[in-house]
Amino acid sequence: MYQEMNLDNINLNLEPPIEEPARQYYFMAKCREWVWDFEQKNGRSPKACVVNMGCQMNAKDSEKLTGILSQIGYEKAPDEHADFVIYNTCTVRENANLKVYGHLGLLKHEKKTNPHMRIALCGCMMQEPEVVEKLKKSYPFVNLIFGTHNIYKFAELLANSLESERMVIDIWKDTDRIVEELPTERKYPFKSGVNIMFGCNNFCSYCIVPYVRGRERSRRPEDIIREVRQLASDGVSEIMLLGQNVNSYGKTLEHPMTFAQLLKEMEKIEGIRRIRFMTSHPKDLSDELIRVMKESNKICRHLHLPLQSGSTNILKAMNRKYTKEQYLDLAGKIRQEIPDISLTTDIIVGFPGETEADFEETLDVVRKVRYDNAYTFIYSKRTGTPAASMENQVPEAEVKVHFDRLLKEVQTIAREQAARFSGTVQEVLVEERNEHDSRLLTGRMSNNLLVHFPGDPSLIGKLLLVKLEECKGFYYMGTIS
Ligand code: SAH
Ligand code: SF4
Ligand code: F3S
Repeated sequence: MYQEMNLDNINLNLEPPIEEPARQYYFMAKCREWVWDFEQKNGRSPKACVVNMGCQMNAKDSEKLTGILSQIGYEKAPDEHADFVIYNTCTVRENANLKVYGHLGLLKHEKKTNPHMRIALCGCMMQEPEVVEKLKKSYPFVNLIFGTHNIYKFAELLANSLESERMVIDIWKDTDRIVEELPTERKYPFKSGVNIMFGCNNFCSYCIVPYVRGRERSRRPEDIIREVRQLASDGVSEIMLLGQNVNSYGKTLEHPMTFAQLLKEMEKIEGIRRIRFMTSHPKDLSDELIRVMKESNKICRHLHLPLQSGSTNILKAMNRKYTKEQYLDLAGKIRQEIPDISLTTDIIVGFPGETEADFEETLDVVRKVRYDNAYTFIYSKRTGTPAASMENQVPEAEVKVHFDRLLKEVQTIAREQAARFSGTVQEVLVEERNEHDSRLLTGRMSNNLLVHFPGDPSLIGKLLLVKLEECKGFYYMGTIS
């Protein structure tokens, strides 16, 4: 395994190897020399902080960056008072971008007080050419910028940046490569995300992800299985399979396989007790998947099924490729087959052309499906997407009124849905000490609800039975059963 690869055996007098990932290990060894030099001069290790600003896929990438930084010898800093700060950015909505500029504004001052400080930016927002132009012009103190496609080259880019006083920029438009076997550091010892595919081919008309994450490509099942086996032997009991549309997994593989078949392979891996996945596009959700979920005692009782809108007209304009009726049929079928499942969703309010009647259709679906949780978003115009140039953009004031009405409705229903488990005993994975009361532990149920209960921190990472005593809205208070 490369994860075990010893950097001491790398001869830095030779030219860097051409093949990956060996090339990156060479540059890790090179950066490590720089770190030793820093330690000699300053009497301490340099500190690094990786700030994740995006979705689970970005969080997984951040773990890869952290893994590489640890190999090199950086110490972890709890916040941005560090010698190296790297922002792994998101650009799915305008707010995400504004946050990055806000952070950079603050770091500009910090950098003046710490002469060692270096700043890097990576992730989805860096794939937008206008962003990079703006950074070059207005944020010249940034040291390193790279994108989503070449994140595996982080060690090499860092080595270049450490040797240069100029801003190093490396952005690729797209890639068909997947580089395996780089180090990674997990946030939790007992659960882990696992990439099963990268990119997206769906081009929902509002969404920037296909432009910044590139074309859909699936990892080979044997690579995924090897990684999950390794995780299981490291003590991981819960995995979350990650992709923008996991239901289309495997279509482009040399030997095509379905997502449901991949799940069955995951189930066979000893030591893995729970399997989650994110995200399912309704248009590709097969009966085979429902059957495999139903028959499994490892696949969690939770399905995130983004609706986006309940109006067939708006869904058509969004290029979602399903109608209101098809979505309702699908949700109904899932609830019927797996009654204890928790269904969650994403909804966008204020898509161009959305009328009062369209909004009512969304509310109608919310009431019929009775989501266990729903993430609601105000439509955000993303440059370069088809929806950005649609003429009938909805006035802000109207969107706000609809957003508040929707939020109230989804929250009321989610509370009622959560309460349906009162008094039952559920298996939970103990995740952490409660933030507010250290006598309590927090556990996650198969359906993704949280329960807080008294217990000893030595139980963290274990699966336990907990009695749900009292529903507090979106979570429970309980006792070990
Ligand atoms: N691949 C996932 C979604 C990833 S983005 C899927 O198809 O379900 C997460 C959520 O952000 C989306 O489900 C959508 O609700 C929201 N979103 C994406 N683009 C948006 C935009 N331009 N404005 C507002 N919300 C958006
Ligand atoms: Fe965006 Fe649609 Fe792809 Fe999800 S499926 S990432 S919403 S384009
Ligand atoms: Fe995720 Fe945001 Fe990129 S949602 S894929 S980090 S644009």
